[in-house]
Amino acid sequence: MNDRTDPQHLDAPFGDEYGPLLTGVYAPLTEEYALEDPKLTKGRIPSDLNGVYLRAGPNARYAPNGRYHPFDGDGMVHAAHFRSGRLTYRNRWVQTDGFKEEVAAGKSTHYGIRETLKGRSDRRLKDTANTDLVGHRGRALALWYMSGDAYEIDPITLETLGKSQAICQSGGKISAHAKVDEITEEVLFFDYGNDAPYMHYGVVGADGALRHHVPIDLPGPRLPHDMAVTEHWSILHDLPLFHDHEAMVLGRHKIDFHPELKSRFGVIGRYAPGESIRWFDFSPCYLYHVVNAWEDGDWVVMVGCRYMPALDAQGGIDAHRTAKDVAELVMRARLWEWKMNLRTGETAERMLNGQHNAEFPTCNGRLTGRKTRYGYLIDHSETVTLKWSAVRKYNLFTGEDLGGWSDDPQHSWYSEPCFAQADHPSAEDHGYVVAFQWNDALKRQTLDVFDARNLARGPIAQVELPHRLPAGFHACWIKADRLARR
Ligand SMILES: [Fe+2]
Repeated sequence: MNDRTDPQHLDAPFGDEYGPLLTGVYAPLTEEYALEDPKLTKGRIPSDLNGVYLRAGPNARYAPNGRYHPFDGDGMVHAAHFRSGRLTYRNRWVQTDGFKEEVAAGKSTHYGIRETLKGRSDRRLKDTANTDLVGHRGRALALWYMSGDAYEIDPITLETLGKSQAICQSGGKISAHAKVDEITEEVLFFDYGNDAPYMHYGVVGADGALRHHVPIDLPGPRLPHDMAVTEHWSILHDLPLFHDHEAMVLGRHKIDFHPELKSRFGVIGRYAPGESIRWFDFSPCYLYHVVNAWEDGDWVVMVGCRYMPALDAQGGIDAHRTAKDVAELVMRARLWEWKMNLRTGETAERMLNGQHNAEFPTCNGRLTGRKTRYGYLIDHSETVTLKWSAVRKYNLFTGEDLGGWSDDPQHSWYSEPCFAQADHPSAEDHGYVVAFQWNDALKRQTLDVFDARNLARGPIAQVELPHRLPAGFHACWIKADRLARR
């Protein structure tokens, strides 16, 4: 065990016997901090940037039981709270049931996804709430990709306030990547699991009450990661990448890709019964993240980051390699458009941009489910886990690369960039893009603010933080007027 007062412990708090994904840039923090007005090293924080940028990620509190996977770590939230040119940074663990149990025990009492055979019968995996955050009713909901509880967080103090009663009352769970319609202040969500009907879809209203919750029939257990919404429709995913059934029965974690099946996207009215869902077939792929979706006449348009299947020497899909790549967190994604015609049943799909390995997308959250011209994504390393070397803006209609920025493509690790609308916006992209950046050569952690209209100009403000943020997952922006609903 390392001495926690030794500065080296920050690079390997549990030593290095658990593999590289608990050391270096991935090493968890051991402390919770609150920093007022950290050192500004470049530019000025705009006075019309008001709200909070929240980033989720895995941050193991205790040494794991056996082999570690980065999806296992306890959820920690990092917050950058902007108000009239001032900034407060905080980080805190999400106080999940599993986290509290382990703090009481003083050690890990769960097993991760690489040790599922040893997993407990009462709780096969720990719901870490480490994946994603959405803002709702002045609070943030911390969510887990395997479907769990919605942990409500105070977005300023990062105190865990409890679990969403609406989700508890649904009798089901909520997956990461629930969508918030910021116009109606509704949460549209799904869950998925190994038991029929394998998926549910629901709506939590602006009053916080569960408004709608229906089962969605799937052919079997699936591994959807995201969903999409438009003004009137929700779009659920049935993708041809899922657990090997025999391995699953034995409690093992093995996934297969099925190129003989289609990717299916199901369009369902926002408050419609589950059996009314209408499925549209597309070429087989996996899909982690949607940028946005909208209605265009009879068409429903969804733009996302298509996971490009591995190809064999003849140019056919290599199913084994594709499944292995997904399991090993190899990332190979392209900006893609899928279209579904609700009148004729026609479908169309096309690659929007073939140049960049584009992932971890965000757009102007005010326009979630409405037509958006702009997306803000990262350049993903194909082989280095969670290494995002640049932020980049795209035209979502044409796929045009509208320019990106990296301080140092070799050494910069950016977090998911969020669009933060300016106080009095005059255009869709009138605002800022906010992201954390770790430079692993300079050993320097910053928080970077870009002009969303011109990312290629580089950060207009950069603030230095005294400690490294571990590489993480998703982020959200909650504008000051929505924070005021606390
Ligand atoms: Fe995700």
